[in-house]
Amino acid sequence: MISGIAPRPIGLKSTISAQEKANLAPFSYFQIVDHDPPVFMLAFSGREGALKDTLQNLRDTGEAVLNTVSENMIEAVNATSIDAPPDASERLLSGLTKAPSTTLKPARVMEAVFSIETKLLQLVGLDTSKPRVGSHGCLALLEATRFWVRDDAINEQRKHIDLEKLRPVGQLGGVAYARITDPFDLPRTSWARATKETPELMDLRDAESPSLTSTTPQESDLGI
Ligand SMILES: Cc1cc2nc3c(=O)[nH]c(=O)nc-3n(C[C@H](O)[C@H](O)[C@H](O)COP(=O)(O)O)c2cc1C
Repeated sequence: MISGIAPRPIGLKSTISAQEKANLAPFSYFQIVDHDPPVFMLAFSGREGALKDTLQNLRDTGEAVLNTVSENMIEAVNATSIDAPPDASERLLSGLTKAPSTTLKPARVMEAVFSIETKLLQLVGLDTSKPRVGSHGCLALLEATRFWVRDDAINEQRKHIDLEKLRPVGQLGGVAYARITDPFDLPRTSWARATKETPELMDLRDAESPSLTSTTPQESDLGI
């Protein structure tokens, strides 16, 4: 099942505990879910025993930095997934470097091309129909409070991050990972634009549907 949802972006999450002990761990149940205001999701699978440190820290402090994972970091990132006790440092184990954040306490990861400081909006318990032994999974929704992009990785208009610099790694099934090696563009159109250029498209209208005329802003223009 998991291998069918691929590739999944990997985020390396920095949090701190109530006692201000730093924690780093990778998560691929991770996505942007809205862009304005920017909101991200992160999900924790249920398991027996204690909650994952990242989840416990989010519950206690409500803060996390989402650091992107590039090819040159993947082995160090993989090392941070170890189930170390809360007082052990995954960062020291990985050799990654910390960099200060400005809107919250957890440090960023210096090696990350793109880091997002976030505050917790909502935790949603995944109280599914098949309870397992141990905790249920949990979904966290996080709102961005500050973005950091490596200077050489952003274009002049400060709008786009260069994929060649980001070199993101995706997670596949099991312990398999993927690089993005062959990106391509595919322009999108809107119903209004398409029917102006090709009026015959109006014949596609379903007689029973009230109207197919779109008056909302075009998502294709936003690139979502
Ligand atoms: C690439 C990668 C992606 C992962 N994604 C997730 C995930 O999305 N959700 C999850 O619960 N665990 C995920 N894990 C496992 C956690 O990283 C692992 O349980 C870790 O020990 C949690 O650390 P913590 O207790 O410090 O939070 C992933 C591991 C790797 C290597």
